[in-house]
Amino acid sequence: MWRRRYLGYFIAMMLLYILIFVAIYVYFLRRSKDPYGTFHISFNKVHGSRDPPKTEWLNMGLWKDTAVFPEACQALALRLLGAARLKPNGRVLDVGHGSGDSILLQLSHPELAKPSLVCGITSLPAHHHRTRERVNSFLSSADAPDKKPNVLLFEGDAVWRSDDREHPLSPHFAHEFESIVALDCAYHFDTREEFLRQSFQRLTPGGCIALADLCFSTPPGPMFTLFLSRVLGIMPRSNMVTKEQYVRQMNDVGYKNIEMEDITPFVFPGFQLFLRRRGNIGAAFAGVIGWLQGQGLRFVVIKGVKSSDR
Ligand SMILES: C[S@@+](CC[C@H](N)C(=O)[O-])C[C@H]1O[C@@H](n2cnc3c(N)ncnc32)[C@H](O)[C@@H]1O
Repeated sequence: MWRRRYLGYFIAMMLLYILIFVAIYVYFLRRSKDPYGTFHISFNKVHGSRDPPKTEWLNMGLWKDTAVFPEACQALALRLLGAARLKPNGRVLDVGHGSGDSILLQLSHPELAKPSLVCGITSLPAHHHRTRERVNSFLSSADAPDKKPNVLLFEGDAVWRSDDREHPLSPHFAHEFESIVALDCAYHFDTREEFLRQSFQRLTPGGCIALADLCFSTPPGPMFTLFLSRVLGIMPRSNMVTKEQYVRQMNDVGYKNIEMEDITPFVFPGFQLFLRRRGNIGAAFAGVIGWLQGQGLRFVVIKGVKSSDR
């Protein structure tokens, strides 16, 4: 009898320890909102090559005509930049640009209108420094255009807080933008709605915002919401909106000509296949993406224009 009671006490204590551990993990260790680092550099390696990769993309890719990671990432970037209607000599703000490939693409791709100014802001210091290094190296190379655009890079959060006058979305910032782009990152922003609002203020009349982003086909349930926002820590609750709510939010902020395209079938399956080929951790991550998709997660490209009538 005393043995059973002792066993029950032991199990209860173990459960309590596990609960305490999970609580500490969820509320303290997962406080870092940014799950990224430099692991993505190996994703960009060309199969069979010993050379360091030339690209450092870190998005889920558009796997329409390719099975190669950097090509899929570039295809997604081009899809987004196409939606953003870049203007010749335009001023572009690229938010959450990671190691800077989308900025380098704007400076170098023959089919993209050449900007006069590219501003970038991204949250991780390592990504910011790497972008600065790569952009400087490109602009001082023989491949640089004769008329060099102005490139201003900032390390920080996408959302401007009132004490930061140097932020590109600050009302005090020296430039406005014809185009604002966010490639596979706005679902992290705290909050995305505030980012959309601030961007609207800093777009020139007729300017365009385009985002390659995550949302849902149906409203996510409370446990799922808790899992994404607290356990994985990748998306604040208020960003977990359906496609219809996302369009409504953009409309309420004031954007016109809003267009959303659901490109999920060209993003998740290709990215999952790529991950599965990278071993057990990749396969586990691919499984999580499959599960999230089953819960209604969608990958979209959404754009809106600030009307010139205002
Ligand atoms: C999936 S990666 C995409 C990187 C890049 N756009 C690309 O395609 O290679 C998301 C990027 O957004 C950045 N990020 C996450 N939260 C952010 C925030 N609140 N403000 C600015 N950047 C953020 C991350 O550090 C990371 O570089």
